[in-house]
Amino acid sequence: MNTEKAVLNYFIQNLGNYTSGEELSNQLNISRTAVWKAVKQLKEQGYEISSKTRKGYCLVDNGVLNTAFINKYLHTDNLDLHVYETIGSTNSEAKNISSQRHSTEPLVIISDQQTAGYGRYGRKFESPKNTGIYMSILLENQHQNDLNPGLLTTAVAIAVSRTIKKLFHKDTEIKWVNDVLLDGKKICGILTEGVANLETQSISQVIIGIGINYTTPLELFPAELRERVGSLKELAEKYHVSRNMFIACCLDEFFAIYRNYTSADFMDEYRELSVVIGKEVRIKQGNKIITGVVSTIDDLGRIVLTDGQIFSSGEVTKIRY
Ligand code: BTN
Repeated sequence: MNTEKAVLNYFIQNLGNYTSGEELSNQLNISRTAVWKAVKQLKEQGYEISSKTRKGYCLVDNGVLNTAFINKYLHTDNLDLHVYETIGSTNSEAKNISSQRHSTEPLVIISDQQTAGYGRYGRKFESPKNTGIYMSILLENQHQNDLNPGLLTTAVAIAVSRTIKKLFHKDTEIKWVNDVLLDGKKICGILTEGVANLETQSISQVIIGIGINYTTPLELFPAELRERVGSLKELAEKYHVSRNMFIACCLDEFFAIYRNYTSADFMDEYRELSVVIGKEVRIKQGNKIITGVVSTIDDLGRIVLTDGQIFSSGEVTKIRY
């Protein structure tokens, strides 16, 4: 391992604590000059390293996305985590990788910015840099037919909601199927895409794309969206939660559910947070528009109307409260 990496690793293992140059040089068996040079190089690479006389150095999570920080906060093992500065779309990248990989480990692609981020129905997903969370999780089908895209979308919505509750002590609401709302404004959208295996006619992989307006200034959204979108900016600042920490917590919450997600034991929580149950809605499916009153969301994540109709996809376009 080169000196710079060794110093970075040491800082990460001791996050939040100051270490003197002397201590670093003793621990890593390198000269004081080598310590000084490594710190300088790390700073040039964008790491924020605070230094205090008599106390030494301390690495600061200043909000820049970083695999090392995410891994440090993460409690889930065996994730193949990749962080990019900029990318077209994390979902597209996960799809590209999906055809070439042999590993069964879940793959997580995160980017600071997306130049071609997309949402449901191919809509553009605004993905400005330094502010949002754009992340895709690629899951491999390990047991027969255990990937249910609809139910996985609901599982992620619950994981995001639990993360917000845990880190910011705030309740969210969920608009079926993929929007997480805070104070009535959309702060997170989820887009789940299945990769079909034509031979076995089953879903062999699933890519779950999660887009969160974290500290995104609302002015960056087109005027027509500004009324309906929100962000976690105020809460993230109030509780000093970096994107790295939020991502790690969200992944932990999701994988805790995923282990046993087909049991659907998180669905009661989903129904509690749902803003559509008991409401009159309009569901758009292609050119078809169906109206009705929502009776429930079933344990497969489908919307059930009081007249018995069941939908596993579609867009709830209007809700009468
Ligand atoms: C929606 O609200 O319609 C879903 C939005 C999903 C956006 C995320 S951002 C990360 C991933 N990459 C994409 O291009 N889209 C998803």
